[in-house]
Amino acid sequence: MRAGEFQQEGLRCGPLLPIIGRREPKSMWLFRVTRSIDWPVSMSSLEFPDGGFCPTINSFSVVDLARRYGTPTYVYDAAVIRRQVERLRQFEVIRYAQKANSNLAVLDLLRRLGVVVDAVSAGELLRARAAGYALASEPPEVVYTADIFDREALELVVKEGTHVNCGSPDMLDQYGERCPGQGVTLRINPGFGHGHSQKTNTGGPQSKHGIWHTQLEECVQRGQKWGLRVTGLHMHIGSGTDFEHLSQVCEAMVQAARRIGPSIHSISAGGGLPTPYRNSDQPLDIARYHQLWDGARRQLESEWGHPVRLELEPGRYPVAEAGYLITEIRAVKRMGDNLFYLVDAGFNNLARPILYGAYHPLAVALANPQTQQATQPVIVGGPLCESGDIFTQTDGGTVVHRQLPAANVGDYLVIGCAGAYGFVMGSNYNSKPLAAEVLLDRGSDHLVRPRQGSASLFASESIPG
Ligand code: LLP
Repeated sequence: MRAGEFQQEGLRCGPLLPIIGRREPKSMWLFRVTRSIDWPVSMSSLEFPDGGFCPTINSFSVVDLARRYGTPTYVYDAAVIRRQVERLRQFEVIRYAQKANSNLAVLDLLRRLGVVVDAVSAGELLRARAAGYALASEPPEVVYTADIFDREALELVVKEGTHVNCGSPDMLDQYGERCPGQGVTLRINPGFGHGHSQKTNTGGPQSKHGIWHTQLEECVQRGQKWGLRVTGLHMHIGSGTDFEHLSQVCEAMVQAARRIGPSIHSISAGGGLPTPYRNSDQPLDIARYHQLWDGARRQLESEWGHPVRLELEPGRYPVAEAGYLITEIRAVKRMGDNLFYLVDAGFNNLARPILYGAYHPLAVALANPQTQQATQPVIVGGPLCESGDIFTQTDGGTVVHRQLPAANVGDYLVIGCAGAYGFVMGSNYNSKPLAAEVLLDRGSDHLVRPRQGSASLFASESIPG
């Protein structure tokens, strides 16, 4: 079977290759997709056995994975990533915000699915290239979106000819001076925002992101000084938005695009699609999400009489539910009335709970499965020398209990829905090495990043004198 062909009969999902460069109507230029029966998906977050037992991840034994790769280890299920991408297929262009999970194996998988990428740093540009994306192409496989150019990023986009989405007036000058006459897109802050936490709200006057909406014309003129053409607009108002805010953004996008006029050939809806972290969370109504944005795009197309590309820029949605952090319980102790499970992963591995009070589903995998295990209220913490190193906390740092099965030292605790903003936000705090990462794909497990060696923690440091 040739790449890009529709594959119907097999279990495999054929590689979905870009058809950039083919002669097709402009609105069809994007990335061709095959639909197929895939390897069975492990589970959605709505099925994650939160508060119970998680003996397997896509039929791989958690205990075996832990023994083979050690702990803490991130495990990603490729079938879930494929399923999530399929759910977004109504969108003409899916541009993955790789900040959510930029392991090369994940980027490669997404590239084969016809998903393009966003990059926010020189490092992410280099990662995209290492995963097989072209840094310069039209339409762009990679877009650099940021509020500043650090010097390294500016040098790289200039050298490679990467498309730039400017989030500040200064970026226009810095880019225009080096690359006059290019097309650019503008990230607009529409004056309001929304997110699952104040820290992930990226719109409004308190946000540092984007070009303030009243400065649009001024920025177009600023760009014209360098011969820059504004070919597209982008709005991302936060992570975890709702439909009320979404229709406001769509309206703001149409208004802003009208102010620029028909030089606009693409609009980007940004990311922010919510993920159900709790069993009780409602899954996102993608059709409605698409309908709102498609309506905005069609309105502009009918006014201008030319195609307008609609891009979506999800980070969390394709990968969050695909990821699990396997940890080992290393201490079980009582403090007054509270029972603690202390595991070998901390906020150096998964920072979302301490940063946002984020909820992640938790389950136990027993090293030696017994038959009867009662559940009990437990506080789950990590190994770090800091009181906030607790996975069961709410926004503001209030420590809470979770009902979990009785477990002992040597059993495993699986943290679910950890594929987005997990490993990538890890650190070496307390001189802890970065976790290992494993990809499960079609019945095979692949170590896609080994655990960092402790010696590398200080290998590049030196003592003067
Ligand atoms: N586009 C832009 C310009 C962004 O700034 C972001 C996220 C995205 C797309 C993707 O947003 P998503 O679809 O993943 O919601 N560390 C936080 C999330 C920070 C998001 C930063 N920007 C968390 O763990 O929830």
